[in-house]
Amino acid sequence: MIDLRVMIVEDDEFLLKKIGKILSREISHIYTFKNPLEAINKVIEIKPDIIISDINMPEMNGVDMYKKLKKNNLDIPIILASAFSEPEYFIEAIKLKVKKFIVKPIDIEDLVDELRQFEKELLNEREALKQERMLMMQSKMAAMGEMLTNIAHQWKQPLNTISICTSNIKLEKEFGKIIDEDNTLDNMIENIMNSIQYMDTTLNDFQSYLKPNKLESSFYIKDTLEKVEKLIFSQMRIYKIEEIKDIEDFHLCNYQNELIQVLINIKKNAIDELVKQDKERLIKISTRKVNNEFIITVHDNAGGIPPEYIHKIFQPYFTTKKETGTGIGLYMSRQIVENHLQGKLTVCNEEFNHNGNTHYGAKFEIHIESIYED
Ligand SMILES: Nc1ncnc2c1ncn2[C@@H]1O[C@H](COP(=O)(O)OP(=O)(O)OP(=O)(O)O)[C@@H](O)[C@H]1O
Ligand SMILES: [Mg+2]
Repeated sequence: MIDLRVMIVEDDEFLLKKIGKILSREISHIYTFKNPLEAINKVIEIKPDIIISDINMPEMNGVDMYKKLKKNNLDIPIILASAFSEPEYFIEAIKLKVKKFIVKPIDIEDLVDELRQFEKELLNEREALKQERMLMMQSKMAAMGEMLTNIAHQWKQPLNTISICTSNIKLEKEFGKIIDEDNTLDNMIENIMNSIQYMDTTLNDFQSYLKPNKLESSFYIKDTLEKVEKLIFSQMRIYKIEEIKDIEDFHLCNYQNELIQVLINIKKNAIDELVKQDKERLIKISTRKVNNEFIITVHDNAGGIPPEYIHKIFQPYFTTKKETGTGIGLYMSRQIVENHLQGKLTVCNEEFNHNGNTHYGAKFEIHIESIYED
């Protein structure tokens, strides 16, 4: 079966039915229209991959229909069918770059071959587009990593200076040059030192997370989840989100930074939904090993993904966050899980229990096979 959405426009009802019937044996989606104006109105809803249209029709000729679609930015490939007696349209149609002309009476076998070829081209084109988007995202991440390296470089020196100055104050106090009877200064110094330490590790953490792993490495899942926690810790605290953990630690050989990136995307989505609700906000993280498969689950209690669009959330640019979202997060996460981590990323809405209460929300699962046996 050829997987295409094909719109056929033909004013001769008998012919239209006949072509529609024969083509629907070979092609997955066929939409037939007798009137080109009706066809134009339905294009946005149907989203055809290709249109096959007669040229000579009473309401509007095929070339004008194509012109009108193009004018509305609906650049859908079109195959025009005509009898040889209509040469006046040819020049115009060639100028408009129609995909192909076929001569009436239509040879259905040729047409099917044509559509099969078109399906291949379309798949290749889509694959190339996906790759391009992936590359774009990767280069964006790389640029961000580079920017962070610059910031880190600029900040390391002043952090170091602050740290030295603070140590000096401590020394002065130890030599008795500064009086600090109730140890207030000591406490302050300790606070400053801790903050410096924290800023320094945060810089390193972000930097290493933004660098894509070139090689697989061996790491523990518990440690990975702790890294993720650290990276979005502030958002969890600001929005008062409680994290419930049910972790079975295991050893993986894979790309750790990529896994971190996916987990951050999933957790950030959960946070985005959780902040909308006033009741208790929960994210439950669990890991388990089933046979030779490792499963990492991120389950929230934000009410779940509406069934009308749950099947769309992994598509590029699908977002319900008009101003703030790009709709790339989950698309990229699935690409990473399937193509880099050689795993699977699934979603469903489910209940879970916590402290005697039942909660409901989206549950994302990452399934990864590992060659390592613990
Ligand atoms: N845990 C969740 N609960 C409910 N809906 C969710 C959840 N996770 C994702 N979604 C839905 O899936 C959509 C797509 O998510 P995705 O991460 O791909 O894009 P986004 O978060 O909208 O934008 P961004 O590209 O900035 O991540 C979201 O807009 C949201 O509607
Ligand atoms: Mg997102």
